[in-house]
Amino acid sequence: MIDIEIPGDKSISHRSLMLAALASGESRVRRILVSEDVSATALCLRELGAGIPPISADMRIEGLGLRGFRSPSQPLDCANSGTTARLLMGIVAGQGLSATFTGDDSLRRRPMRRVTDPLKLMGASIAELGPRDSLPMRIAGGKLKSIDYVSPRSSAQVKSAVLLAALTAGIKVAFSEPVLSRDHTERMLNAMGMELRTVVDHGGMRVELEPIASLEPLDIVVPADLSSAAFFLARGLLAEPAIRVHDVGVNATRSGFLDVVRRMHGTIHVESRDEFATEPVATLIAAKSALKGTRIEGHEVPRMVDEIPIIAAMATRAEGTTEIVGAGELRVKESDRLTAMVNNLKAVGADAEELHDGLVVRGHDRPLAGTVRSYGDHRIAMAFGVLASLPGNDIRIDDRDVVAVSFPEFWNQLAACRS
Ligand code: S3P
Repeated sequence: MIDIEIPGDKSISHRSLMLAALASGESRVRRILVSEDVSATALCLRELGAGIPPISADMRIEGLGLRGFRSPSQPLDCANSGTTARLLMGIVAGQGLSATFTGDDSLRRRPMRRVTDPLKLMGASIAELGPRDSLPMRIAGGKLKSIDYVSPRSSAQVKSAVLLAALTAGIKVAFSEPVLSRDHTERMLNAMGMELRTVVDHGGMRVELEPIASLEPLDIVVPADLSSAAFFLARGLLAEPAIRVHDVGVNATRSGFLDVVRRMHGTIHVESRDEFATEPVATLIAAKSALKGTRIEGHEVPRMVDEIPIIAAMATRAEGTTEIVGAGELRVKESDRLTAMVNNLKAVGADAEELHDGLVVRGHDRPLAGTVRSYGDHRIAMAFGVLASLPGNDIRIDDRDVVAVSFPEFWNQLAACRS
């Protein structure tokens, strides 16, 4: 068995920097993810006046309070990071600041009205400076008012943008979504002295935020990222040696991958469990298993939205058919992940078919060989990295450096599995 070092959770790392910058007093953030996406958040926060030191494993951050940011003198470049753009739009709108948001080619293709629609309903003034529904966009001041927003989709980025806008504007807000999306923002705000009221029932989830004068500082150890660990758990399920990953976040709003693995007859053993301030964590061991196909439906997708590429890759080595439906959101991630996965799977000889909102993979045991494209998307490159590492396969990946946004050490850690 080998131990793989999994970097800090990306979602919690972004939020740690933002919330520490909004707190009153000094926050401490340990084991943050050191990656390009998190650096983009740090850079933008510095443009907004926050004193964010260089990103490191043990950071102390002096907060500016809920309304202490200033309008930046240049556009906020969110690089490849949707979380940076969407959550900071909420904060900038809430504080009544003016800022232009932009990003790389991938981010400028991603939909933004899902965030600007509720922010406009709250009274933010937002101009689209480029193509419809995409960055660059400019937020230009405006005093916000309370809304009771019913979101048509489950998105933690949209939910967080609305909550952070209300928090910084000092107003109450209610937000509902069809299925509870990742709840890190709510957990962290509760740990910082807020009392968010969340109701989850069969009809969906609703969260209510009441105004608060200031946030207490944050003291957090960031769990290892299950979305990054999933690649190595998959590797452990598909080939020797068994893989152990430590202190991985297993928040129920994120852990759908583990349920799917069990349904596929995969063995993931929980060695120990713990709590890191706001989040449950576990040390997990994945052992080689004879996988079977499964079916994943739309209501399950928010709990595994970033793990679908590696699940599709695993399905090529499973017996039987895996069908994933209701996953249209994957078309608007860092790439169109449905097209990217199916094109690449076909290119290496897997049996895959694209659906309008999902994909079908029929497993077989012939070796996979060919060249794939990353489509500029870290999770596509890593999913094929795992398949490429399996004995007998011969897969080349065009742009391996894209992993730097979430898992800079991915290729080194993967090499350790083969030695
Ligand atoms: C994230 C939420 C998810 C996820 C993304 C990170 C977050 O996106 O895909 O990688 O940190 O809130 P949506 O909330 O838009 O589904």
